[in-house]
Amino acid sequence: MISNEMEAILVTVGLLGAIILLVYKYLSWHHGVFKAVGLDGPKPNIFLGNFPSAITGKQPVVYDVDEVYSKYKNTHKAIGVFMTRNPQILILDPGLAQKIMVTNFGKFRGNVAADLIYNRKEDKIAAGSPFFTSDESWKAKRLHVVGGLKQSKLSMAYPIWKGCAKKLAKYLENRTANGNAIIETKNLGFCFTSNVLGEFLWGIETNAFAKSNEPNTFLEMSQKWLQYIAQSVTVYFKLLPVPWLRRFAQPRLFPLATDRFFTQLTKDALEWREKDESSQNRVDFLNYLRQLQEKKNLTLDDMVGCMLTTTLDGFETSATVLFHTIFYLAHHPQYQEKLRMEILANLEEDGSVSYQKLCALPYLNQCVNESIRLISVVSFYARISTEPTELEVGQGLVIPIKVGQVVSVPVFSFHHNPDHFPKPYEFNPDRFNNEAHLDLMKRGIFMPFGNGPRICAGMHLGLVEVKTCLVEIFKAYRVNCCAKTIPEKRPESPTFIMGIDGEFWLEYERL
Ligand code: HEM
Repeated sequence: MISNEMEAILVTVGLLGAIILLVYKYLSWHHGVFKAVGLDGPKPNIFLGNFPSAITGKQPVVYDVDEVYSKYKNTHKAIGVFMTRNPQILILDPGLAQKIMVTNFGKFRGNVAADLIYNRKEDKIAAGSPFFTSDESWKAKRLHVVGGLKQSKLSMAYPIWKGCAKKLAKYLENRTANGNAIIETKNLGFCFTSNVLGEFLWGIETNAFAKSNEPNTFLEMSQKWLQYIAQSVTVYFKLLPVPWLRRFAQPRLFPLATDRFFTQLTKDALEWREKDESSQNRVDFLNYLRQLQEKKNLTLDDMVGCMLTTTLDGFETSATVLFHTIFYLAHHPQYQEKLRMEILANLEEDGSVSYQKLCALPYLNQCVNESIRLISVVSFYARISTEPTELEVGQGLVIPIKVGQVVSVPVFSFHHNPDHFPKPYEFNPDRFNNEAHLDLMKRGIFMPFGNGPRICAGMHLGLVEVKTCLVEIFKAYRVNCCAKTIPEKRPESPTFIMGIDGEFWLEYERL
């Protein structure tokens, strides 16, 4: 006879055992999916999958991925992996990545970033961005944005950039009036891109430089917005094993306060433009949207969506590339000198570089490309299959792909593969001598702006922003490291956008 107490213990142990078994099954039932189709891959941890840092935050996930990539890159074109519980196909071969992103794009139109939006009705501004869209509306949203950012439009709007460069020059002149100045260059980069975007998108003066000591609502709202998104991304990763918990943790991708602020700003800018006839012929994004509204009958939300896509996708990305390029060039004076020589040899009479030259200067291009390679602003390109298809993954193996399968291209690892980029963590723009980037891009090894129909929609805008600022600085200043400058180190930032953590204090020496 067992006592009541013993019976209770046995029932409890039995229940606990059943719960543990259920949790185990929940976490591992799908671990055989890749084996079933013959695709190799590392054994996943039951709780953490193959990339534990997604949950533990021990290091940026890209380094976990890079360890797996390095182990398999010489023997496999693709492997099966688990991002916590989520099965993904990790593409190791650049040629296969090209097939997915370019040739076979029709079957892989989805984008994992769209998953970040939990409730598309509530988070309607985020849902308006092509970056966060996977459904049929993606193409139209993208076309709306891209139409206002064509090379021909940017070339006509170049006086706006030149005007912003002048404001930057004035600011640097004031700061260095009493000798060399030590300036926090991340903030400088954000001020420049917010200045440019404020003027080009909304036609407003953000006063980022003119009143740099006063609070700047535009800059503050943009930065608050980015911090919130970074937090949403972290929550997303941590809750991947239990996605339904997100509705209680941080359900929105964009904060409500910034949605309201930028919606009002767009409304005000449109009303003001309606009244101010003198600015109606200005070539900028606001006038482009007004014309588009007439042609396509856009709603205010559609227009705000376009504005915010361009702000969000163009603000931190471009600023990040900009301040890293300055930082690396300060650490490598020999490359900085080479760039300065190129800039000085190409200045027009008014002290600027023409739009055509800005796009074409080879060493300027090399410095920017090398900086984007090193940090790889967006470190994965993750596509989702939208039609059933098959994938040839090497060694004669063809695997079936179901709708909804995530296929991930670890571009950070491509960009740090020593077979293609010797000493990959060293800044060396000379590795792109003789237009070496063209062949690397053709082979899918170097993809700083992505590839195929989903390639960065604002590539030209981003490059003009970055290059105009670099020209303005390096034509007149030597930027040096000083006692406050942090050393070069590998990109570590835990957010969506990769980069080196910490402040970038650099000395600006007037020439
Ligand atoms: C130098 C600065 C920039 C860099 C390095 C950069 C990089 C990227 C990358 C790597 C992607 C992912 C592409 C892919 O998945 O294949 C992307 C997408 C995108 N970028 Fe940029 N970007 C920059 C500036 C901008 C600017 C100024 C805009 C302004 C409109 C912009 C708008 C977008 C959009 C809308 C997408 C999503 C495209 C789609 O999915 O259809 N980017 N960008």
